[in-house]
Amino acid sequence: METIRAAITAVDAYVPPYILTNDELSNMVDTTNEWIMTRVGILERHILKEKGEGMTYMAERAVKGLLEKSNTLPSEIDGIICSTVTPDMIFPASASIIAGKCGIVNAVAFDMNAGCAGFIHAFKTASMYIESGFCKKMIVVSGEKMSSITDYTDRSTCPLFGDAAAAVLIEPRTDGTGIQDTILRSNGAGVPYLYMLAGGSQRPASHETVDKRQHYIYQDGKVVFKWAVEKMADVSAEMMERNNLTPEDIAYLLPHQANLRIIDAVANRMGIDKNKKVLINIDMYGNTSSVTIPILIWDNQEKFKKGDNLILSSFGAGFAWGSILLKWAF
Ligand code: UT7
Repeated sequence: METIRAAITAVDAYVPPYILTNDELSNMVDTTNEWIMTRVGILERHILKEKGEGMTYMAERAVKGLLEKSNTLPSEIDGIICSTVTPDMIFPASASIIAGKCGIVNAVAFDMNAGCAGFIHAFKTASMYIESGFCKKMIVVSGEKMSSITDYTDRSTCPLFGDAAAAVLIEPRTDGTGIQDTILRSNGAGVPYLYMLAGGSQRPASHETVDKRQHYIYQDGKVVFKWAVEKMADVSAEMMERNNLTPEDIAYLLPHQANLRIIDAVANRMGIDKNKKVLINIDMYGNTSSVTIPILIWDNQEKFKKGDNLILSSFGAGFAWGSILLKWAF
């Protein structure tokens, strides 16, 4: 019997036009372009400024673009998974909101939150719907309005994050392309180091939570950095080992874009040439949480050839992390 694998067959993205530069940030908090570039590697990030609009404003545009460029009717989509840590509302699921905005009315729709590792979790979940035959055409859309939970008085976090959305179409393939292998891990050790304290059921919004600035991202950067380097490198190396891949067998590494120094460390551990095979766009968008990997795919799709081995590796809140080995399908 032919093996059915889930493959990405189209990709699109929406990036809001407003660019927040390091110079503008240095007028808001005590920071400099030099610090941000050398410690993190971010030159600028895009911010959604449309009044009254949330994450799904961007996701809607990414999904509509995806449908158009792949000549797909909304009625053909039978599944949509949205990965996000910044849904429009706690409920209903943003996937349902996006489906409604895009005329997708015949689909299973739900959200997934695995922090910055959300895309790889959603992609793997979608692949199981596709491989089982339950769905034929699925969309994974990752969207983040990180600016809505970023404290622009906190210099340790406000330079890091940006807003964006990206969507991929996922379909079955029997030609050997698609997802080859997946490793997903979590340990709970990250809970004290990366979170947004209030707004959930434990600490609903109140005057006190607002006064204490608890509706913003808190990150102990140093601790998260150490874990991110170790775990992303571990999982990427394990992916190579268990698939008997040498650096020559890999066309590109697509790592989560949180810090250029983390990306360098992961590439070194894998023995991959950082200048040729490691895809980087953190300088243009910053850390867009679960959008970093699909927006890397979108930015670099022209480079990929059918059959290329791509390693997608990510790490985020929880901690939750993992890696996917994907054979490019077109
Ligand atoms: O995406 C989810 C996972 N997240 C990550 O993987 C992020 C992991 N962490 C990081 O990328 C880094 O830890 C950060 C970029 C967040 C911070 O970089 P760092 O090299 O770890 O800096 P630090 O927090 O150790 O701070 C070093 C110094 C401190 O000053 P002192 O105490 O040495 O005098 C900070 O106060 O840099 C200072 N600092 C800044 N200075 C200028 C912190 N933020 C800034 C800033 N501008 N924006």
